[in-house]
Amino acid sequence: MVFSLKFTGRNIISIEDFSRKEINYILQVSRNMEPIASKGSDILKRKILATLFFEPSTRTRLSFEAAMLKLGGSTIGFADADITSVKKGENLSDTIRTIENYADIIALRHPLEGSAKLAAEFSRVPILNAGSGAEEHPTQALMDLYTIQKEKGRIDGLKIALVGDLRYGRTVHSLACALSLFDIELYLISPESLRMRKGVVDSIKNQVSITEDKNLDKIIPQIDVLYITRIQKERFPDPAEYSKVKGVYKIDLKTISSGKNDLILLHPLPRLDEIASEVDDTPQAKYFQQVWNGIVVRMALLFLVLGA
Ligand code: CP
Repeated sequence: MVFSLKFTGRNIISIEDFSRKEINYILQVSRNMEPIASKGSDILKRKILATLFFEPSTRTRLSFEAAMLKLGGSTIGFADADITSVKKGENLSDTIRTIENYADIIALRHPLEGSAKLAAEFSRVPILNAGSGAEEHPTQALMDLYTIQKEKGRIDGLKIALVGDLRYGRTVHSLACALSLFDIELYLISPESLRMRKGVVDSIKNQVSITEDKNLDKIIPQIDVLYITRIQKERFPDPAEYSKVKGVYKIDLKTISSGKNDLILLHPLPRLDEIASEVDDTPQAKYFQQVWNGIVVRMALLFLVLGA
C-alpha cells in the first residue's frame, strides 16, 4: 500500500489506511489545534459538516459538531434515523447521494460493518467513519493515541492492555491496529467468548508482541496504559451469552493501587460498572481528558480533509 501525506478530500474509513508517518502528522496537527479549540477560529467558514448517526452517540457526534463549530463551520444532520426518510425505506446509498448536495463532508455512524466503505463508494464528499457496527472506529483510535502520547510523552516502549469486549468493540479493533505501528507490547485481556477477532490479531501479530489472557489482576502491575471497554449488550446475538460475561472486569481503587504509580486508565465511554466512580478522582483516571482530546483530534481531521 502506498501512503502519502495528502489528506485533502480523503475518506477516513479504516485506521489501516494510515501509515505511522501519517498518524504522527495527525497527532501533530491535533496538538496545534489545542489553542484554537479554546479560542475558536474561522478557518472552515462556509464549510458544512453533516453528521448522519444511525446509532446512538453522545461523544462522537457532539465532538464532531463542536469541532466544526470551533473552526467556524456549520453542521447539519440527524441523531435518529427514524425521523428521516430511512424510516420510509430509503437506502444508505440514496441517503448519501442526497446529503452530499448539502454538505462538504459527512460523518457517518451506522450499525452495519462495511457501511462507511459503502458510503464512500457513493459519495462525492469525504466520509468520516464515526463507527461502523462492531468493525471500526478510526477517529476514536486517533484520539486514543493522542491521549496516550499527551499523557505519557510517547507511545513507543509502552506496555498497553486492551481489556473487556475485544470481540464486538470497534474502538479496540481500530486501536489495536493503530498501536501495531508503534514499538509497544500489547496485552489483550478478555473472557474467552470476547477474545480479539482473529482477523485483527492475524493482521498485527507480525508487527507487535501480543499476550492474550483472561486475568486482568495478573497483568496490572506490569502495564503503563489500561484501556478498558464496556461489554456491549446490544451487540450480543444471544442475551444468555451477555449474562455470562456481564461485569467481568471492574476497576476500583484496589485495582489502581496494584498498578504502577504512573499507570493511566482510559475508556472510550460510555461506561457501565467497569470503572467504579471512586476511581474518577485518581491521577490515573484520564477518560474525561480523552473526551477533550476528541475535540482537538476531530478538529485536526476536519481541517486536513477539507484542505484548509
Ligand atoms: N466513544 C464513543 O464512540 O462514544 P459515543 O458512542 O458516545 O459516541
